[in-house]
Amino acid sequence: MTGENAASTMYDVRDSNDESRKTKTRSAKRGTMSTYTELKKKIKDKKAVITVVGLGYVGLPIALEFCEKGYTVNGLDNNTERVNKLRKGISYVDDISSGDMRKIILKGNFVATTDNKVLGTSDVIIICVPTPLQKITEPDISYIVHASNMMRSYMRPGQLIIVESTTYPGTTREVILPELEKSGYKMDQDFYLGFSPERIDPGNPKYSLTNIPKVVGGITEKSTELGKLVYSQIVKKVVGVSSTETAEVSKLLENTFRIVNIGLINEFAMLCNKLGIDVWEVIETAKTKPFGFMPFYPGPGVGGHCIPADPMYLSWKARTIGFKTEMIDLAAEINRMIPAYVVERVCEFLKERKKKFAETKALLIGMAYKRDVNDLRESPALDIFEMLEKKKVTTSYHDPHIPHFNAAGGRKRSRKLTAALVRRQDIVIIVADHSGLDYKMIADNAKIVLDTRNVFEKKKIKGENIIKL
Ligand SMILES: NC(=O)c1ccc[n+]([C@@H]2O[C@H](COP(=O)([O-])OP(=O)(O)OC[C@H]3O[C@@H](n4cnc5c(N)ncnc54)[C@H](O)[C@@H]3O)[C@@H](O)[C@H]2O)c1
Repeated sequence: MTGENAASTMYDVRDSNDESRKTKTRSAKRGTMSTYTELKKKIKDKKAVITVVGLGYVGLPIALEFCEKGYTVNGLDNNTERVNKLRKGISYVDDISSGDMRKIILKGNFVATTDNKVLGTSDVIIICVPTPLQKITEPDISYIVHASNMMRSYMRPGQLIIVESTTYPGTTREVILPELEKSGYKMDQDFYLGFSPERIDPGNPKYSLTNIPKVVGGITEKSTELGKLVYSQIVKKVVGVSSTETAEVSKLLENTFRIVNIGLINEFAMLCNKLGIDVWEVIETAKTKPFGFMPFYPGPGVGGHCIPADPMYLSWKARTIGFKTEMIDLAAEINRMIPAYVVERVCEFLKERKKKFAETKALLIGMAYKRDVNDLRESPALDIFEMLEKKKVTTSYHDPHIPHFNAAGGRKRSRKLTAALVRRQDIVIIVADHSGLDYKMIADNAKIVLDTRNVFEKKKIKGENIIKL
């Protein structure tokens, strides 16, 4: 074990010249049969150094959970502003308070850094970089590729690499593995590689990182076993699966299930409106069936980093093998229509009152893509805001989680929510139903409120001026 330890500590930071490569190969051979047992022991003994690459909504909670359990953790992010905030104990992720962040910093086992060299001293590397969509709704895996590239330069024997970024099936095996193998190191001999989809639901008070079962699939059995061992330190239940592809696509199935059902219920909402039926009452009624029905709720459209993007990763992959995912594509199309439908409902109301757009004032409540988060990515509120402005409606917003954002017409700031502000509006639109807002005051003072979330019903606030989506 002593010799093997030496093998793993000798190779902190690598360069790419030939001599170094030969040395790496020699070292790798010396470490054969040992890196697995050694890494296992380090993880069990909490001696493994863990580096989380990408400290966003996904990476930061994972990094802090490992700190809580006593591991030494590096948080590596190339966004200097984020790293500086964390160093000062300031959190930018809603589910982590700055108070908790300061405690972690004081504890001393978490280092936020922009220095890639920490990869060389890490035993476990967890990748949580973004996987957005390109403009033409094609997957953008450039962040994962860049992170793998970066890791290659710092690899040494005895490392476990786990990808958490949501992506299409095959990415870990077909894109990341070859990238890492360019280092000269060998899978299952020098390093281990797996995929573990992140399932967190920001703002969910019931389910958080530790009580949501974690799926792990390795390229090899040993990689799966190591992955299971690592996550079992922070998560109550870990589910090992037979391959990285199963792990990758299980995440896409979960989000596809959501997008299809949200698409269905949004279409249902539009139909019910035409029929003069309250769709929310219909859902509550259907929900009384104890089996075979799961409620989904209509809304102003889907947003965030996952639901609008992930199923598109799947449909893109399907296209590459000549398969058309018609259900997914249709659901995505219906969901994309919803912000325009909300604006259409506003227009109907203005038409009824013979009110010109240019003389109309509209206030949006909640710009974030959903309740109680500060995430504006793909938020339907952005589309609604822009569409109203294009129609020359004087549009403003209130969101305690989004102090400002950049719109086509310049920087917009959240307005203070007062009775006077609400009274001045021709229409108020509830887009994200954040907790802690004075909905009674809104109902009491608004000329008319378009409620896309059914928040007034849930709070038992009645009013002739409240219209539902
Ligand atoms: N947000 C969610 O609720 C959620 C849930 C499940 C899965 N996911 C998936 O997890 C992944 C991360 O999502 P997120 O919401 O945390 O994204 P995010 O944008 O909040 O965070 C990603 C971080 O990675 C950093 N980064 C990018 N490239 C880097 C590099 N080369 N080196 C170091 N840091 C780098 C960015 O600066 C950023 O801080 C995505 O694939 C997403 O689809 C997100």
